[in-house]
Amino acid sequence: MFSGVKGTQDIIDSRLFDGVIARLVSHVTLYNFSHMQTPILESVSLFKRSIGEHTDVVGKEMFILEQKSSKEQLCLRPEGTAGAMRAFLEHQHALPLPCKTYSYGPMFRYERPQKGRYRQFHHFNIEALGIKNVAYDALFISMLYKTFTDVFLLENFVLEINFLGTAQDRVAFKTALYDFLTAHQTAICQTCQERKETNILRVFDCKIESCQQLYTKAPQLVSYLCQESQAEWDLLRTQLAQLSVSFVHNPRLVRGLDYYNKTVFEFIGFDLGAQSTFCGGGRYDGLAEQLGSKAAVPALGAAIGLERLMMLLEAKKEQFEKVSLPLACIISCAQEQNNTALLLADFLQSHGICIDALVDDESLKAKFKKAERLKATLVLVVGADEQQGNYVTVKNMSSGTQEKISQHELVTFLQKHKS
Ligand code: HAM
Repeated sequence: MFSGVKGTQDIIDSRLFDGVIARLVSHVTLYNFSHMQTPILESVSLFKRSIGEHTDVVGKEMFILEQKSSKEQLCLRPEGTAGAMRAFLEHQHALPLPCKTYSYGPMFRYERPQKGRYRQFHHFNIEALGIKNVAYDALFISMLYKTFTDVFLLENFVLEINFLGTAQDRVAFKTALYDFLTAHQTAICQTCQERKETNILRVFDCKIESCQQLYTKAPQLVSYLCQESQAEWDLLRTQLAQLSVSFVHNPRLVRGLDYYNKTVFEFIGFDLGAQSTFCGGGRYDGLAEQLGSKAAVPALGAAIGLERLMMLLEAKKEQFEKVSLPLACIISCAQEQNNTALLLADFLQSHGICIDALVDDESLKAKFKKAERLKATLVLVVGADEQQGNYVTVKNMSSGTQEKISQHELVTFLQKHKS
């Protein structure tokens, strides 16, 4: 016997997953996002260039594939933004701007598995490319906020926002942060000491409580914004308030990926334990050029961690599960009626009725048991008499009542039962 690979999950019953996706798709479609799919396989260098070599995702968590011939190193994608931008740059001649897309599918990170943290998990990814004005940020964040409050009726979460400014703004900030860390060199952990030298903003990603405690006293990025960035940050907060989006400013929110600038945000669930962020995103105006584009493509996006969103919905999941059509099972009493059962099943399916045929050589009682386990609402019995008289005996599985329905009235009867 084999068991699943550590950190992966089998989604045996995907009704909640499917229902969540259907609602997300219909919501983001109202904001003119359309479906784009990119491959799970991408080159390692794409993520080194975009996410950054000194991030946890690229430095420690990549699933890199061993290849027989090609020199290009490939990996299983750890996230969707770099692939979306790569695909846009590759096909931009055929695409309008703004290019607004959504996608969903598995992502892979070699992390220590725990509640809400897996090695294969799923993102619902939303990216808006070719948008510059900060008003788009407000609308985008409001779209996400409404997804959680109005579509999924969530209350137990907080939206945290920060403004990282431009690369230029961060130069002075990084110097101030460096001086602060030097002054507290002995109080910070080994990883933070290394990050101070290699990629200083990443110190804020540290999970160690004493480091986080110290960073509450660290310089704040928003104090180092130029006039233009300050005006954008002010406008963003005003517009979010006008759109009735509640949020808090977290001055230490930098997100774990290097491509962000200006607006960054996270939605944090109260009931999720240690892995509490269920959606995160921000602006990445420099990514296109980082990936070799001559023109800038200012952009904004977010990813919803679907496993964590589903955990938040667990208590009321029936409300969000994809509803399947009521099932009718057609049962033949003996091999002689199998042909009639198959022809009837084929005929009913072509009229949009969900039907399963139970035609194995076993007792009527065993077939009824199977129909019950399949949660059939009706069972259509075809025995010798029914075959002879061109009718079926229909048993209603919840009331237990039985009636004879002629074959030519069957579609109308079942369609009435469906509605
Ligand atoms: P991220 O914050 O790395 O952002 O991932 C987004 C969400 O995926 C997280 O907030 C979390 O809910 C979920 N997630 C991350 N790692 C795991 C894991 N190991 N197991 C389960 N869930 C996980 C990004 O990936 C960016 N690409 C988001 C973005 C899109 N920014 C701009 N556009």
